[in-house]
Amino acid sequence: MTPVGVIGSGLMGSGIAEVFARAGRRVLVHEVTEDAARRGRDRIASSLARAVCSGKLEQDQSAQVLDRITVGTDLTALAEAELVVEAATEDEGLKTELFRQLDATLVREDAVLASNTSSIPIMKLGKATQRPEQVVGMHFFNPVPVLPLVEVVPSLFTSPATVQRVEVVAQDELGKTVIRAQDRAGFIVNALLVPYLLSAVRVLESGYAYASAADVDAGMVRGCAHPMGPLQLSDLIGLDTVVAITNSMYEEFKEPLYSPPPMLLRMVEGGLLGRKTGRGFYEYDRH
Ligand code: 3HC
Repeated sequence: MTPVGVIGSGLMGSGIAEVFARAGRRVLVHEVTEDAARRGRDRIASSLARAVCSGKLEQDQSAQVLDRITVGTDLTALAEAELVVEAATEDEGLKTELFRQLDATLVREDAVLASNTSSIPIMKLGKATQRPEQVVGMHFFNPVPVLPLVEVVPSLFTSPATVQRVEVVAQDELGKTVIRAQDRAGFIVNALLVPYLLSAVRVLESGYAYASAADVDAGMVRGCAHPMGPLQLSDLIGLDTVVAITNSMYEEFKEPLYSPPPMLLRMVEGGLLGRKTGRGFYEYDRH
């Protein structure tokens, strides 16, 4: 099988690389610096170690999966890929520039360029390339090895053949459930999830019923059987990512319910981004 490229080895990129490698694909991951590449490799290795510990994977299988993944800093290493999934930081300027570069780098004329963007219109990414009919959204959910959904998002220019190709990959190769979403900021899941997460921050911010973060989360975990509360989930996603998604959605719809609450903005300005920095609504041991 031809290799798959993944751009970025943060929370989402490392998970996407892992699921492709576990499905038997060779995966070429692109990172910006050697240090980021090393952290990406560590992230994948510890997720695999977790799967070994919970009995989902044998030790030797885990080693084979790791062998299939190369994390490097040279974008041209992805030239032969037939599919590249971009999972860089949720920044429109950065992503459009990456799509422009990828379009120039990928040598296969039929190569598909997918984005794991949470909310940036696929049209904007497609327009940055000479092959908008082969540009599509492929939105995974965190933790990627655990959550079985992929939103597939065609732009007005994406060809039906491209949509079919990524749906086959997501369903048949990765064993994910696919839902098709329209190319509007937030797609389906974040259009529902983000106002809920922001409402939880507003409940906390307003001191409503003297609720603490733990109270807000317990309300949804114990009262509605959610696997985790909205503030814990925001910490898992990363508060900077939540703000980036909400900004794209606000820009698109100008709905007050998509505007980020000041408390969330102050936390991001202060570098309190959730699990990845060790502190968000809760504190975390980073080791
Ligand atoms: N990587 C790999 N595997 C993981 C993992 C991770 N980061 N976190 C948990 N797991 C696995 C564990 O190994 C365990 O597997 P097992 O059942 O085979 O032993 C299983 O998941 C359950 O983990 P735990 O027992 O440690 O913990 P929990 O039962 O509390 O589950 C959770 C953790 C899977 C994160 C669960 O709380 C959950 O599903 N939470 C909701 C997550 C969610 O809503 N994600 C969507 C975010 S939105 C998004 O991603 C879109 C973006 O655009 C913002």
